[in-house]
Amino acid sequence: MTITDDHLELLAETNSDAEATVRSVVNNADTIFTWDYEKGARPGLNKLYEKAKGAQWDGEKDLDWSIEVDEEELVRLAGVPDRASLAELGVDITGTSFERWGEKEWIRSEIETATWALSQFMHGEQGALVCTAKIVETVPWIDAKYYAATQVMDEARHVEVFAKYLDTKREGWYPVNTHLQALLDDIINDHRWDMTYLGMQVMIEGLALAAFGNMMNLTHDPLLKQLLRYVMSDEARHVAFGVLSLQELYRELTEAELFERQEFAYDAAIRMRDRFQRQEVWERVGIDVREAITTFSSGDPNEDPFQQLLFSKIVPNCAKLGLLDANDGWLRKRFETMHVIQFEDHPDTEAEYELLDATTGVN
Ligand SMILES: [Fe+2]
Ligand SMILES: [Fe+2]
Repeated sequence: MTITDDHLELLAETNSDAEATVRSVVNNADTIFTWDYEKGARPGLNKLYEKAKGAQWDGEKDLDWSIEVDEEELVRLAGVPDRASLAELGVDITGTSFERWGEKEWIRSEIETATWALSQFMHGEQGALVCTAKIVETVPWIDAKYYAATQVMDEARHVEVFAKYLDTKREGWYPVNTHLQALLDDIINDHRWDMTYLGMQVMIEGLALAAFGNMMNLTHDPLLKQLLRYVMSDEARHVAFGVLSLQELYRELTEAELFERQEFAYDAAIRMRDRFQRQEVWERVGIDVREAITTFSSGDPNEDPFQQLLFSKIVPNCAKLGLLDANDGWLRKRFETMHVIQFEDHPDTEAEYELLDATTGVN
């Protein structure tokens, strides 16, 4: 990918309030009370709620925290990057600062990368905690308020277990990535209640479900595997909640209203795929962020199988919501350009979540 100077400038931005302990974001949505208490008026949501009540695991008791984690050994088991393995991925380090790196530096950057990724998972989980609390306030349906309340509890557990894992098994955590924070800010800012669902449940959680699954398959750490399995059994339900809720609403929207949702979904997709890079890792290991991004962005993201895989849950869910084909297939064309349209016929998460629950054995 050839990156323009302006785009590189944007990509190289890193967190400017990394030392702050809190961040304040304005929420422009109205808080809605409903006086219609008829439970089960929306049977799909009611079923999810009943299921969620019985699926509350406990990170303190259900995960085996006695497992020791040796970060260096984990990198060795996964394979230490070198010039040849990077070249296979289309990354050429000739003439860059990376050329001077030996095994020690690569091991360190891999350890930092893992910590960075897990830190962003943790921050994303807090984003989900906050967004779902926002849904409790803003959604007008009682069945959705009930279900969202269970998700608030799920997300609290997710933040808790990632934080404990980083704190006790890794060397602390990284601040939130600027581009992830910007996306979360936009979701919180928005006054339309469905945008919280679309941004969080469908886009961010859809991508997280694919990313967690990938990490769960690849990691050699049994504790992290277990942790991700538990988290994923909840995440599938969360994405299903988004799809079920929005399906009803989006059937009633005009093409113009749907277009706003299509643009929002596409914008979130591009931000998550292209801007979410390990900028803070390069800062920490002393490599110029612009140089690192340029070096590692030499491939075409549209051709990268890992980048494509991240959309394996998002695309079928957008299809189910009618977002692909509205406005003459506006979003379909964009997903075609991104080479992710092939996931269209994969099972959507509403159809799949029970399967995920059953295969993880966490109930
Ligand atoms: Fe979560
Ligand atoms: Fe979630």
